[in-house]
Amino acid sequence: MVVRLDQVGLRYGPSGEDEVLRGISLAVPQGGFRWLQGPSGAGKSSLLRLLYLEARPSRGRLSVLNTDIPIAETRLGRGMLARLRRRIGVVFQDFRLLPHLTAFENVALPLRIAGRPEGQVRADVQEILAWVGLGRRRDAHPQELSGGEQQRIAIARAVVHRPALLLADEPTGNLDDAQAERLMQLLREMNRLGTTVIVATHNAALVRRHPGPGLFLDGGRLVGDEADGYHEPE
Ligand SMILES: Nc1ncnc2c1ncn2[C@@H]1O[C@H](COP(=O)(O)OP(=O)(O)OP(=O)(O)O)[C@@H](O)[C@H]1O
Ligand SMILES: [Mg+2]
Repeated sequence: MVVRLDQVGLRYGPSGEDEVLRGISLAVPQGGFRWLQGPSGAGKSSLLRLLYLEARPSRGRLSVLNTDIPIAETRLGRGMLARLRRRIGVVFQDFRLLPHLTAFENVALPLRIAGRPEGQVRADVQEILAWVGLGRRRDAHPQELSGGEQQRIAIARAVVHRPALLLADEPTGNLDDAQAERLMQLLREMNRLGTTVIVATHNAALVRRHPGPGLFLDGGRLVGDEADGYHEPE
């Protein structure tokens, strides 16, 4: 399983505070797709944060990319953390582009971290920038880009290195309908090629147009898992 949680809880800050995720158990196999849904504050971004290893469980068992992730008190080797993260692509809800880098340099980062040769970096970044319709904005800095343009750069950065696991947090929040459809084409194609994809969204129309199994959170609990008894397409 690419993602497995068994009775996982998460609390921010010192122990004693309320858990924002409680007793979550779920599994997503390689090549799986899941919509992650639930009201604002339900814990969607927090769950994605666990999967990106930015937050650690306060209880339960978590495994990501077939690697057991110890709970908060236990140290996780830096090498292991870096190795796992290199195989994960994330579209953050707040984009998190680096302000001093151009659009091109932001998107190139995962390839540079992976040590790809410069010629391949240029070709791959140009290709994905063209795909998201921003080939001509490659030299712009994030603050010179609109919200939707920044979001598309964040998407390009998340997919350019063909991650094994793609986590997208409200990736259409700033996109128009045509761009959102184009993003879905990209996600489905990556999913078809074997990437495991988890997309948190409030966009009910998008989910209706692209049916797929949903994980439903409410108040930090998993209240629905449509993948129960569902067989992933081969
Ligand atoms: N860094 C933090 N420290 C303390 N509490 C936090 C932190 N981040 C989130 N929370 C709390 O955790 C709960 C879940 O937040 P989370 O961001 O995961 O929700 P969400 O489902 O992604 O909501 P939205 O749809 O608005 O993005 C909320 O009650 C929030 O206030
Ligand atoms: Mg969120």
